[in-house]
This record gives sequence, C-alpha cells and structure tokens, in this order.
Amino acid sequence: GDVAVLVPAAGAGVRLGPGRPKALRLLAGEPLLVHAVRRLAAAASVHTIVVAAPIAEVAAVRELLAPIAPVTVVPGGAERQESVAAALAAVPAGPDIVLVHDAARALTPPALVESVAAAVRSGHDAVIPVLPVVDTIKEVDADELVLGTVDRRALRAVQTPQGFRRSVLAAAHAAAGDALTDDAGLVEKQGVPVFCVPGSDHALKITRPFDLALAEHLLATGLR
Ligand code: C5P
Repeated sequence: GDVAVLVPAAGAGVRLGPGRPKALRLLAGEPLLVHAVRRLAAAASVHTIVVAAPIAEVAAVRELLAPIAPVTVVPGGAERQESVAAALAAVPAGPDIVLVHDAARALTPPALVESVAAAVRSGHDAVIPVLPVVDTIKEVDADELVLGTVDRRALRAVQTPQGFRRSVLAAAHAAAGDALTDDAGLVEKQGVPVFCVPGSDHALKITRPFDLALAEHLLATGLR
C-alpha cells in the first residue's frame, strides 16, 4: 500500500445532540470510528491509518481500535484543521498519497477509498469525491430574504476521503491561514487544481439524528 489515511475524529458532535464525542457515538452497537476504520483498513492500498482523537479519549481510542487494525492515535485539536495537521505530522516516511477522511462518514465503502487513491496515483495532486446537488440552492441574507438562486448544475456536494499527493497536502497545511471546512480548500488556495470523482451515497456524513437513523437502517438492511 502507498496510502496513508488521516482520520480527524476529535469533534464534539454538537449537532447530534448531547452525548459522547461524535466519533464515539454508537451505530448498530459500535462507535462510528470503528465502522470508519474497519472500512479504511479493508481498502488494499491503505498502508497507514492515523486517527486524531479527542484529547481526553486518546488512550480509550487506542484500545478501541487495536483489535480492528494497526492504527496510530494522536490528540486532535480545537478545529478540524488542527486535528488533520496533528495526524499528518504523525505519518511515517513512505506513503506518497495521503487521504483525509472524516470519522463521521462511517459507512464509506472501501471502493471509494480506492477510487480516490487511484485518481491521485494517476497524476491528480488533489482529488475529492462529489455528488450532484439535488435541491435548488438559494443564497439568503441575514433576514432570510432570498438574494438569488444558484445554478445547481455547476454545484457539487463534497465528501471524504479527499486525496492528495503528500507534498501538496503538507505544503497547504504549512501555509494555512484561515480555518476551512475541508482540506481541498487549503490546497485550492495554493492554486493546485482539484479533480472530482464520483462520490457515494453511503459516504454520507453522520451529522444529525436523522443521519444516524438512516445509517442504522442501511446496516440493518444488509449494507456491510
Ligand atoms: O464538525 P464536522 O462535522 O465538520 O466534523 C468533521 C470531522 O472532523 C469529524 O469526524 C470530527 O470528529 C472531526 N473534527 C476533528 N477535530 C475538531 C473538529 C472536528 O477531528 N476539532
């Protein structure tokens, strides 16, 4: 395998309601992070997995993941970007491709991991999985008055894993100014072209209680 995967898993998960940090919330009896790491480890190209855990949970997460796959666990940061940077710093010499994958996308198929990695391997320095936008999108002002309608044919909803040539991601993080919600955003700011590949419905981000219910249903009806 020539791929390292960084898994930011240090978020609180406020939008899921009160409870454990999001990556440790249970889905079909197992933490989201366990589901996510199991699928990452099932992708043949994956050589190294580094998880950024909530600071208070580092030891617990190490124990949790030890039976699932060989994983390095580091303390995350206050922002997602800091968690990714901490994980990136822990990648050993070797892997030339680095993927960044949210623990919250717990049901992401190994095939999507492989397709993102393959696109980087084929020469794209930055690769993101995307889906078409199904809803009509409006821009609104602070008073909820519509400013305009965006042409959704030119929009994409972005998932993870996002894949990068290692040197490109490292340079983008080293130069990072403002915090962004994804790593491709940092790379874009460096002027690096970002290539889109088809995403997967199963790579949904488990953010709200509805998403958790949907994920439970998908697992109960036979998704592995
Ligand atoms: O909050 P959001 O849904 O954007 O979080 C996406 C991913 O980033 C989650 O897996 C979450 O655990 C992780 N995260 C993190 N460190 C933070 C905030 C979020 O690792 N400080």
